[in-house]
Amino acid sequence: MTLSLFSRYEIGPYTLKNRMVMAPLTRSRSKQPGNIPSRLNAFYYAQRASAGLIITEATQISQQGQGYAWTPGIYTEEQIEGWRLVAESVHDADGLIFMQLWHVGRISHPALQPKGALPVAPSAIAPTGMAFVTNAKGEPEFVPFVVPRALETDELPALVKQYVQAAKNALSAGLDGVEIHAANGYLLDQFLNSSTNQRTDAYGGSIENRARLLLEVVEAVARVCGSDRVGVRISPMGTFNDMGDENPEALFGYVAEKLNELDLAYLHVVDPSHGGHQTTETPDSRGVAIMAMIRERFAGTLMVCGGYTLERAQESIQNHQADLVAFGRPFIANPDLPERLRTGASLNEPDQATFYGGGVAGYVDYPTLKQQNGEEGLPDFSVLEAN
Ligand SMILES: Cc1cc2nc3c(=O)[nH]c(=O)nc-3n(C[C@H](O)[C@H](O)[C@H](O)COP(=O)(O)O)c2cc1C
Repeated sequence: MTLSLFSRYEIGPYTLKNRMVMAPLTRSRSKQPGNIPSRLNAFYYAQRASAGLIITEATQISQQGQGYAWTPGIYTEEQIEGWRLVAESVHDADGLIFMQLWHVGRISHPALQPKGALPVAPSAIAPTGMAFVTNAKGEPEFVPFVVPRALETDELPALVKQYVQAAKNALSAGLDGVEIHAANGYLLDQFLNSSTNQRTDAYGGSIENRARLLLEVVEAVARVCGSDRVGVRISPMGTFNDMGDENPEALFGYVAEKLNELDLAYLHVVDPSHGGHQTTETPDSRGVAIMAMIRERFAGTLMVCGGYTLERAQESIQNHQADLVAFGRPFIANPDLPERLRTGASLNEPDQATFYGGGVAGYVDYPTLKQQNGEEGLPDFSVLEAN
């Protein structure tokens, strides 16, 4: 049988109807106050339920874990109820949905932290760049990052518990599983990479030590969810959020090998061969080599993401380089992406200006093929605007 992006795939207790995954996408549109998922968010996810699997936008596991204005959380009763609405809407539309669990570490600002405290990190090293916060009037504002506070060793068990509680909350809200966010320069990635981790305790220095917190979190979450409902996202060679590692091959080779022992739902890799966040046409040879090495060391389900087109995705699946392909920006602009790829239809272009914040516009009003062809009318957005 020829492998295809359009064929079914089993992970743990679930059958995915195709191998196209909706990548985690922060959209900063949760209901305020309280960072609560709303009917608008539920509608957006249900529109995209034809994906084999949806991974939610990164969702903070605590207030300390928040790094941007208006991102949703999974640590209050109201947030759990909001997510229940999202999960039910996706299930009603025959979809599957995992929640990406997020602690941003140093990519935050006192304006977002409990009692205006400093953000926490493995080491007291400020990232270059700006934090996205709201000012006293509730308006969005960019402010420079600050020097974070280095976590004490004896604070780490409580941090692991934050992930465990968040995973329990996600399952109790009806989500099908969780993805631990260890990519893109957030807390767990800050522990992994040498540029952000200069600790001298058991969580810094050697690769084994830098990977310790991630492995503790994954093992603890797998104990409560069942390992086959837990995925992990990593971004080897990633530079987003001012990141870098002195030897990413050795670091991520070790991480892939250790995660391989845990019988996870999947390992999700932000593929550096085409630039990760940006799309570059010529593949980066070091990125290609690191992906091949991860494929070799991690025997379970491998999901890849980053600049994938239909052709590149089919090629990766047919050549056994990946089992699942996640699409980010194409899913923002195309709620019916699987149908469009299957039929070779043209794709809507995503509008960057509406990626973060706002309401209906650029969120749920990208047309499906049927709406475009006049076979279906547009939904009544006024109900959603009211939230
Ligand atoms: C608007 C936007 C928001 C994103 N939010 C997240 C996120 O919450 N968590 C995450 O791991 N990656 C996030 N990413 C990265 C995407 O998941 C994906 O890796 C990236 O867009 C590359 O894939 P693509 O070329 O298919 O878009 C985001 C990307 C974009 C464009």
